[in-house]
Amino acid sequence: MLFRSPADIYENLQTFSVVELDGRIVGCCSLEIVWADLAEIKSLAVDEAQKGKGAGRLLVGAALEQAAALGVPKVFALTLEPQFFEKQGFAIVEKEQLPMKVWSDCARCTKQQNCDEIAVLKVI
Ligand SMILES: CC(C)(COP(=O)(O)OP(=O)(O)OC[C@H]1O[C@@H](n2cnc3c(N)ncnc32)[C@H](O)[C@@H]1OP(=O)(O)O)[C@@H](O)C(=O)NCCC(=O)NCCS
Repeated sequence: MLFRSPADIYENLQTFSVVELDGRIVGCCSLEIVWADLAEIKSLAVDEAQKGKGAGRLLVGAALEQAAALGVPKVFALTLEPQFFEKQGFAIVEKEQLPMKVWSDCARCTKQQNCDEIAVLKVI
């Protein structure tokens, strides 16, 4: 997952959904619109102790509902957990299928040209 500074998170706070358990946030996920027909799931993370209990599925479901409500038909993520996304109906695609706009984050990433993340896409 790409590092995000507190300033970056605050600037984009309205893009986040969270899962709360007993008043504590145990998962988060951001949906950012990238283009007229494309949005990106970013910063999807579930507390280590709460993994495997459905929080990730809930967060991705909420992001997909948000995209549908906004009329954005395609949602993608760059991930090291492609099988989790496949279970949510995403398909693995070539990164090159995604527009150049996607790579704006890459300039801030330490991996740059050695990116090992896998692109997954769902058309809703
Ligand atoms: C990936 C992640 C968000 C999954 O969250 P989670 O709450 O553990 O997932 P859920 O419990 O909702 O799992 C939903 C389904 O996906 C499966 N699943 C969960 N993690 C999986 C993984 N890493 N690989 C394959 N399947 C996975 C579950 O078994 C479950 O399957 P089921 O529908 O057959 O029961 C979580 O493991 C995480 O925070 N990982 C570290 C950060 C990360 O990699 N984020 C993604 C970056 S975009």
